[in-house]
Amino acid sequence: MAKKPNQLFARKPLAMLYQEMKDDNRLRRILGPVQLTARGVGAVIGAGIFVATGAAAHNVAGPSLMLSYVVAGITCIFAALCYAEFAAMVPVAGSAFTYAYATLGELFAWIIGWDLVLEYAVGSATVATGWSGYFQNVLAKLGIHIPKLLSESPWRWDGAAGHFVSTGSMINLPAIIIVAIVTVILVKGIHESATFNATMVGIKLAAVLFVIGVGAFFISTTNWHPFAPFGWTGISFFGHHVAGQVDAGGNPVGMLAGAAIIFFAYIGFDSVSTHTEEAKNPQRDVPIGIIASLLLCTVLYIGVVAVLTGMVKFDQLDINAPVSIAFKQKGIGWAEGLIATAGVAGITSVLLVMMLSGPRVFLAMARDGLVPKGFFGDVHPRFRTPWKSTILIGLFVMVGAGLAPIDFLLHLTNIGTLLAFVIVCAAVLIMRRKHPEAERPFRCPWVPFVPVMGILTCLLLMFSLPVGNWWRLGIWLLIGFVIYFAYGKRHSVMRMELEKAE
Ligand code: ALA
Repeated sequence: MAKKPNQLFARKPLAMLYQEMKDDNRLRRILGPVQLTARGVGAVIGAGIFVATGAAAHNVAGPSLMLSYVVAGITCIFAALCYAEFAAMVPVAGSAFTYAYATLGELFAWIIGWDLVLEYAVGSATVATGWSGYFQNVLAKLGIHIPKLLSESPWRWDGAAGHFVSTGSMINLPAIIIVAIVTVILVKGIHESATFNATMVGIKLAAVLFVIGVGAFFISTTNWHPFAPFGWTGISFFGHHVAGQVDAGGNPVGMLAGAAIIFFAYIGFDSVSTHTEEAKNPQRDVPIGIIASLLLCTVLYIGVVAVLTGMVKFDQLDINAPVSIAFKQKGIGWAEGLIATAGVAGITSVLLVMMLSGPRVFLAMARDGLVPKGFFGDVHPRFRTPWKSTILIGLFVMVGAGLAPIDFLLHLTNIGTLLAFVIVCAAVLIMRRKHPEAERPFRCPWVPFVPVMGILTCLLLMFSLPVGNWWRLGIWLLIGFVIYFAYGKRHSVMRMELEKAE
């Protein structure tokens, strides 16, 4: 290194990443394109389509939620193409954190790593809350009812009233229990069993195809009118209303605002890139896995929403378990039980993936010295898992899932993920300019159009979310900065390299 760059913007050299990839200590390369796509679908289809669809259609978008899924799907495709370029270039675990480190420097890498941890932890709490809704639906079919006090978060967002209202419950006990169980499983280590994942994906796909195939016979097209009862847009700018309607709480509603909510349903395709290190032929197969899983899910989601809003008038859709309850509302009780059971299984598999991902990001950060290695990089001697961070994140998720309302968790996950996508799209643009010569086994097409559109559409969705989320994201990042400047910056492996080079 000829000239010492500012550490904050010092980029991890690609050569260093390639060297690390050769280390023995890496994960085994066992996944091909089909398994990677299956990982993608396994991580994507879950609480978003099975749960968030209900409240989004009911309160925010009506039947036009079908188009919301198209908008969110297109947004994700822009980001996915950018992710794919990086995943092929830098095929190591750590996902967007590693990409940012190689392109934008340490500070941005920190921001994105810290942001991803938020995404995965709060996302897990969201999924666990959704799981609880379906689990209780299954129990109810068996005649078992969890006491009201232990059945959900103490608060619920009331769009019509414009504020949170009490639910009369104290804690979401089923959500806490499932998080505790998953934490134990992850600490002991799940064999990355292809059979288990394939079974879960099979169950989910069967449930979704069943909903579309059987539900189609119960569609009444009058339910699709009015198609966009809340309008077509729904944009605010830091709380200042810009376009479309707002609910009683001043939050944007409409087709676009719906997209910002159900964006959650697509989260997880990026987790394919966290498996890059385990891919047999990462340069070719990871982009295939990311894009194929996303396209498949987009088509299925549109089908499910078309059927649901066609079966039941949007304002009568259930909020907690909308898909299975829609079949009950049509008098098809046996289907309700089947779908609820498949929902529980499918959502559990998403929870496993999400809770697995947070500790992996921390592990990548610990390898670079940005968070304490002794804690976040500590691999259990017997189970070979990053057990300490798994437990820490598990506790955080339990608190969130036990107490926070699902919309609160969902919005926060979305804004955090959208920010990560913005940074990844920007990183592609920067990398093309700074390192045009770097080998790119997969090239994002139509640069700069695709990354620029990725940035703009993600920002649009961020602005369509209720403003409180910006403040929450800001506070999280602020905590992150304090930790970075107090610890990460001083212990960074990169800092030591820079000092050696002096
Ligand atoms: N996309 C994942 C889900 O919907 C997070 O559960």
